[in-house]
Parts: sequence; C-alpha cells; structure tokens
Amino acid sequence: MSNLEHGKKSIKKDLKEHPVKVLALIYPYMLVVGLGIGLFYMSKINKIGKNLIPPPLSDSTYEFQDLTLKMPSVTPKADVMALSQPTPDLVAKGKSLFATNCVSCHGTDGKGDGVAAASLNPKPRNFTSQDNWINGPKISGIYKTLSEGIKGSAMVAFDTFTPEDKFALAQYIRTTFVPNPPQDTKDELTDLEQTYNLAQGQVNPGQIPIKDAMVLIEKDGAARYAQVMSVLNKIRNDSGSSGADIFKRVTKNEVRALTALSSTDEWHNNEQAFVDLIVNELGEDGFNDSVHYLTSGEWDTFFKYMNQYF
Ligand code: HEC
Repeated sequence: MSNLEHGKKSIKKDLKEHPVKVLALIYPYMLVVGLGIGLFYMSKINKIGKNLIPPPLSDSTYEFQDLTLKMPSVTPKADVMALSQPTPDLVAKGKSLFATNCVSCHGTDGKGDGVAAASLNPKPRNFTSQDNWINGPKISGIYKTLSEGIKGSAMVAFDTFTPEDKFALAQYIRTTFVPNPPQDTKDELTDLEQTYNLAQGQVNPGQIPIKDAMVLIEKDGAARYAQVMSVLNKIRNDSGSSGADIFKRVTKNEVRALTALSSTDEWHNNEQAFVDLIVNELGEDGFNDSVHYLTSGEWDTFFKYMNQYF
C-alpha cells in the first residue's frame, strides 16, 4: 500500500473514529476561507449593490424648446384692390419667390411633385387640379394659406413675407398653374383686408428666448430690456457698417453681450475699460474668443460704434 493510499484511508478512518478531532483541525482553514470570501464581497459591495438596481433612465420625452429670438417688425400696409390685379410686375415677383420657396414641394410645374414631395403626407397641392383644395385658389384663399399655414401638413405659414409677397405668389400661382382661376368677390377682398389689417399695416411685437429674458430680469428689468432690444434692433439694421459687423463677429449671445455693456457706463469714455469689460465677459457667454484677434483699429471702430448706442 502506497503512502498516499494509506493517507486517504487514514483520514476516512479518523473521520469515522474521531469526527470532532478532524473537524477541529479543518475549522481554522474554513474560517480563513470564509473570512476571505466575506472581505472580497465587502470590497465589491458598491459595485454589487449598484448592479442590482438598474440605473434610472433620463426622461427623453421632456425636451425644453426655448422661444426663438424675433425682432419686432412692422407689416407694411397694402392696397388690396390694386394688388388683386395680376400685373406683370406682381406676377414676375411671385415667380421668383415661388422658385426659391415653393418649388421643392410644389414642383416647377405646380403639380405638387417637387423633390421633397415624395416623403410627405398629405402631398403638396397640385395647383393644376381642382381637387382637394382647403382654403381654395382664390387670392383670399391663397393669402390665408400663406399667412396661417395648413395644420397637420408640411405647409407652414410664411410669416416673414410681406403682404405684397403673398399677393405676388397668389397671382403667379393663379395665372400660371390654376385653370380658369375663380375670382374673389368684392366682399371677399374686403374681408381679407380686415382680417389681416391690411389697410393699416400691423406692428408685430418681438420675442426673446426665455433664458435671455431671465438674465435681463435678473440684471434689472423692463427699462434695461427695452434698451437692449432697441440697440439690438438698430445693430441688426446697420448692415454694411463695420462696427455692426465686428459686433456680430465677436458675440456669442447678442442679448447677453448688450446686457453686459448696458450694465455700466464706466466704459463710455474709456476704451481700455471697454476692452476689459468685454474680455471679462467671455466666461458669461456674451462674447466669443474672436475678441482676442481684433486689431487695435478694429477695437477703435467697435468702441466708437457701441458708444453711439449707450
Ligand atoms: C415643405 C413642403 C412645402 C413647401 C415648401 C410649400 N408648400 Fe404649399 N403645401 C404643402 C402641402 C403638403 C400642402 C397640402 C396641405 C394639405 O393638403 O393639408 C400645401 C398646400 C398649399 C396650397 C393649397 C392650400 C389649399 O387651399 O388647399 C397652396 C396655395 C400652397 N401650398 C402654396 C405654397 C406656396 C406659395 C409656397 C411657397 C411660398 C409653398 N406652398 C411652399 C407643402 C409645401
């Protein structure tokens, strides 16, 4: 009998004859192994605990859509009776507006088969057919469609068009695509004039993103808001002015930039203070890094330009 076999036999034999003695011998080892497993578990307890509970998912159904910045504007008045005549000038204007704004959906031939039409439901109107019109192909109908859009379809309102633009488009569509276009009655034209205030023109209030409004309110309210918006409006209309160009180039958030400039008059007669204020404002998101690349000539121009508004 080999030693190994002898050993196995003797453990079995010992276990049978002296169970307590054998267990007492193994006990310290079991204790150490048990302790080891316990320590290992404790050291990983964070991971083990985390894995048991699924991580909370962020709520993707809630997405905050802030307002877009819209400058206040005036819709000019329009002479409805004159614009209801399809003069060659008006039709030509309509043609060019149609080519840039409508062809992608309505197609060059007005059949509702532009390149973007395939994926749309409902399909863009086929102007050459009498079927399916909602507001209709009279001038008043097309004017309404362009002013309000058609809910639940890709036909959106074209808010930025002037009344004359809308008449021009209506005239172009009617003279070019619609077979025997029906005439508006005098009452329909009067109604159109009243509904859209065309005889007086209209003032459209501006709108500012809520996050910017909060900054303004924090800084001090209505008077500041009015000043900032009026300066912004002037700058936007100063196209071609090098001061305005620099302003547009170096601002990240125009409202914030102007709010910062309106918050103190220390810089009004001090170009260095002006530079300091703007550079310090970088972290607040009003201005962007390109201020670092302005030449001293550009700083002069920019400084003088802003001084005239504050
Ligand atoms: C993004 C695609 C798209 C563009 C761009 C578009 N339209 Fe439309 N248009 C539609 C769709 C779609 C309809 C049909 C809506 C429906 O049936 O509900 C429609 C319908 C119309 C109608 C018929 C309204 C009625 O009474 O049924 C007119 C008129 C019209 N569009 C004019 C224009 C003009 C003018 C332009 C350009 C300034 C234009 N559309 C640009 C998609 C477009």
